[in-house]
Amino acid sequence: MKVHAATVNRTDTATLRAHPFFARAMTGLIRPKMRVLGMDFAGEIDLLGEDVCAFDVGDRVFGISPDMFGAHAEYLCVPADGAIARIPGSLPYHQAVVGEGAWYANGTTRLLSEGKSCLIYGASGAIGTAAVQLAKARGAHVVAVVGTRHIDLPGSLGADRVVNYEIEDFTAFEETFDLVFDAVGKTSFLKCRSLLTEDGVFSATDLGPGWSNIFLGMFYGATGTGRVRIPFPEDAPGFIQQLAGLMSQGKFHGVFDQRYPLDEIAEAFRYVESGQKTGIVVVDVC
Ligand SMILES: NC(=O)c1ccc[n+]([C@@H]2O[C@H](COP(=O)([O-])OP(=O)(O)OC[C@H]3O[C@@H](n4cnc5c(N)ncnc54)[C@H](OP(=O)(O)O)[C@@H]3O)[C@@H](O)[C@H]2O)c1
Repeated sequence: MKVHAATVNRTDTATLRAHPFFARAMTGLIRPKMRVLGMDFAGEIDLLGEDVCAFDVGDRVFGISPDMFGAHAEYLCVPADGAIARIPGSLPYHQAVVGEGAWYANGTTRLLSEGKSCLIYGASGAIGTAAVQLAKARGAHVVAVVGTRHIDLPGSLGADRVVNYEIEDFTAFEETFDLVFDAVGKTSFLKCRSLLTEDGVFSATDLGPGWSNIFLGMFYGATGTGRVRIPFPEDAPGFIQQLAGLMSQGKFHGVFDQRYPLDEIAEAFRYVESGQKTGIVVVDVC
């Protein structure tokens, strides 16, 4: 496919820098094995393999390339049965690069169902903004925690209540939730424990202080309660199809920050590494 748009996201920066450190075992001991990063893509099919009948040349498609990356380049080869779907309607390419954060968010929000309650901490990043919408699509009650500059954002995505972490200490709430999702890796299970219902789950996108989320995740996994989890996302192809469905029903859209041309991609990496982006940072590839 001819890539029109990609993103720079926290998966790209983590792969480039080998964060966490042990990721080097997979991503390259001294330098990244993958020379072209880029997990999210949106573009136009240019050439098809012999047996491919699910797509046509010229189709406008989007998706993620979680194993091979490669979208920070003018052309990308993806398996036809991979995480790829047609772009719904006439959505422009730069608004179709929505897969990475949503896929990670789905690793946690899939635990929710109609009537369940959740608190999403960090509802202004790529994962957090996606988590609010996916949780609402599942019929959950959502309390979103963000800072002052994002205070109007979660409500526009469907959150039932918004809490400003700069003013209120949400960890002191008496309310309890079926799920507490630390979508920005800035809190811990110990701080959020009192927010959980008896069967409630704490899930986080990062390792937590002293890698506590890994150790607690293994402990609670072994005891069978699964009370602490790091959401390892699954079934990327199935999820991208599901996401395309939600997008065409108007139940999901990307939240976008800066757009950079491909030749300014180093600047995009620096900005994403600042941890200050709102939603998704786009790279216009061609
Ligand atoms: N290792 C990996 O492969 C990998 C992959 C993807 C994601 N992740 C992790 O997942 C997390 C989220 O990634 P992301 O792409 O969704 O977003 P991100 O880039 O981490 O999002 C940053 C957002 O978080 C907000 N924020 C910063 N400090 C905060 C705080 N103390 N409390 C609440 N919000 C805060 C920022 O706005 P304000 O400062 O205005 O609040 C900004 O909008 C990151 O920790 C990242 O490391 C890891």
